Amino acid sequence: MRNRLSPVLSTATLALLLIPSGVRLASAKAVGPPEVAWKDMTVPQKKAYMKVAVMPTMKPIFQTFDGKKFKTFTCATCHGADGADRKFKMPSNGIHPLPNTPAAFQAKMKEEPTWPKWTEFMSQKVEPAMGKLLDVPVFDPKKPVKGAFGCANCHKLETATP
Ligand code: HEC
Ligand code: HEC
Repeated sequence: MRNRLSPVLSTATLALLLIPSGVRLASAKAVGPPEVAWKDMTVPQKKAYMKVAVMPTMKPIFQTFDGKKFKTFTCATCHGADGADRKFKMPSNGIHPLPNTPAAFQAKMKEEPTWPKWTEFMSQKVEPAMGKLLDVPVFDPKKPVKGAFGCANCHKLETATP
């Protein structure tokens, strides 16, 4: 492994960091929000946007939270192993389903020692970042808006309550 970046590479990296993200996206030739609304994008455009914008933004967010679990971070982390076969439709088969009522969710938060910290990470970091990337309103329990981006855009909800 080389222990120093080549001057050319480091200058290019620095330049990328200094350019506003919109310009960076344009130069990477991926259309996306806010220029084109997420809902108006074609599937190939969405795919390209996931690659150049969603992956580089979300990967460090997940890895900072749990570097071991998310050491490998791919499309399948969110879309599941069958993501490509299902044309990347969300919610995912590869993400743990969530209870489908507030009461059942609260019960699970008491049962599962890791859930409170996961839930905090999801609502404080994942949802806002994803909402910003897609340029859509994020679900706010204090001001619920229909169609807002939330947990169920990624997680399936359990069908039956025990
Ligand atoms: C951090 C999680 C995350 C990762 C990683 C991710 N995606 Fe997505 N993807 C989403 C979410 C959430 C949606 C659905 C957005 C919506 O419409 O609500 C989506 C939607 C899509 C769609 C549109 C599906 C449709 O509804 O027609 C495609 C295509 C897609 N992703 C491809 C990819 C590809 C390819 C990769 C890897 C390069 C990838 N995604 C990585 C979260 C992710
Ligand atoms: C952009 C997609 C996305 C959104 C939005 C999202 N999550 Fe997640 N969530 C994931 C991924 C990926 C994982 C890791 C895979 C797994 O553990 O199932 C995960 C894991 C979790 C876990 C850990 C499950 C386990 O394995 O025990 C909990 C709890 C959780 N999410 C709760 C939530 C809640 C609550 C919300 C809404 C406030 C939410 N998530 C929103 C993608 C998302």
